[in-house]
Amino acid sequence: MTKKLWGGRFQEATDKLVEVFNASVTFDQKLAEQDIRGSLAHVAMLGKQGILEPEEVTQITDGLNSILEDIRAGNFEWSVSLEDVHMNIESRLRERIGPVAGKLHTARSRNDQVATDFRLFTKEAALELADLLHGFRSVMALEAEKHLTSDEGQPVILPGYTHLQVAQPILLSHWFLAYVEMLERDESRFRDAARRMDESPLGAGALAGTPWPIDRFATAEALGFARPTRNSLDSVGSRDFALEFLAACSIATAHLSRLSEELVLYSTFEFGFLTLPDSHTTGSSIMPQKKNPDVSELARGKAGRVFGDLMALLTVVKGTPLAYNKDFQEDKEPVFDAFETLAIILQLHIDMMPKAKWHAKVTRRAAQRGYSTATDLADYLARQGVPFREAHEVAGELVHLCVSQDRQLWDLTEEELKNAHPLLTRDVAQYLTVESSANARLSYGGTGVERVKEAVQDAKERL
Ligand code: ARG
Repeated sequence: MTKKLWGGRFQEATDKLVEVFNASVTFDQKLAEQDIRGSLAHVAMLGKQGILEPEEVTQITDGLNSILEDIRAGNFEWSVSLEDVHMNIESRLRERIGPVAGKLHTARSRNDQVATDFRLFTKEAALELADLLHGFRSVMALEAEKHLTSDEGQPVILPGYTHLQVAQPILLSHWFLAYVEMLERDESRFRDAARRMDESPLGAGALAGTPWPIDRFATAEALGFARPTRNSLDSVGSRDFALEFLAACSIATAHLSRLSEELVLYSTFEFGFLTLPDSHTTGSSIMPQKKNPDVSELARGKAGRVFGDLMALLTVVKGTPLAYNKDFQEDKEPVFDAFETLAIILQLHIDMMPKAKWHAKVTRRAAQRGYSTATDLADYLARQGVPFREAHEVAGELVHLCVSQDRQLWDLTEEELKNAHPLLTRDVAQYLTVESSANARLSYGGTGVERVKEAVQDAKERL
């Protein structure tokens, strides 16, 4: 039987099922690198503070480095009866360098150790996701720029929707830039979260600090943290850094899920707005004609598990008294899962979006349907002093007339227009094309070409 590092006060062996239930090494071995970095910083500080002899520091440091090499090379056998990553590594250190290994845990507890390892991991994961989001938003900004000129040299027009009913024509570039905005906020959420979790819990001990003359500022600096945490209870008893990470993952995944839904819909035969690349779609084993948007569907579906990860940890944390509780061992899998899920979704989108082909003729035709320029007709009247509510009513009646006769607003005769309102003439027709409608919207943040060109430049400058 493997020797427990806390065996002293126990007379009876741990129940086998308890060992399995209690163990986290099957998943927290992902923290091995962080664990060894933390131990190296700790032992160096113990040496500098005169708590350990220089020779002991050298022995422990060399031992930890050789273990790190073994782990990287895949030559490390993890043992479930040693419970977690921390005790697996410390036990191996003892096998390798003898009883001096036991001095590593001076002035430290697994409680501050795991909090340190996990913060290091989560901070790095947050910054990695922020970089991926940055990459994806640069892809989307370039797509926005690309679609300012279609094959005919004109900006690509897209129907804009509310309630998934045709609303007003917009530029496809404007649609891309809407996602750029969301992705930019997502990126900054991760960077903000990383900044807030940038504090080292190492040296908080089990919960109350330590009587040893340690230097927490030195270990914080050695580990790349901005500073040590301020309160020892909070250091080992809080997991809101992980919750914040998961919340940021959830919001970003929600955005990607919305994008995915639009891509699924717009790539259908019925919409036909775009064709997704063969490299990122799949076929059917029975229906030869099929080209399924699996990546988009899975990205949409995986939002379920990422939200679940957030909900799982919120629920774990909510009833726990200060400070450390074993419940917190449940903090890791949701973070690993959300991180890996979002990272692959982002990479897939970075690769897929530039290869999607948009069909400008189809999107333009779709933007013309559904009386999408009726607002422009109302605005035409309102510009001549008719109160907007009245102008809206007149335009609505004309839409009704057109719907009942299956005609278009720009086909109405001089007489029909006059009947609806004396100030309405055929002159209005020029304002009812999708191009003129989109281009008229020159308010700041609007879809008018001049505004969108500026917005593209602005988005690129922010990269
Ligand atoms: N495996 C544990 C965790 O993930 C490490 C900390 C254990 N501390 C303790 N006092 N049992 O939370």
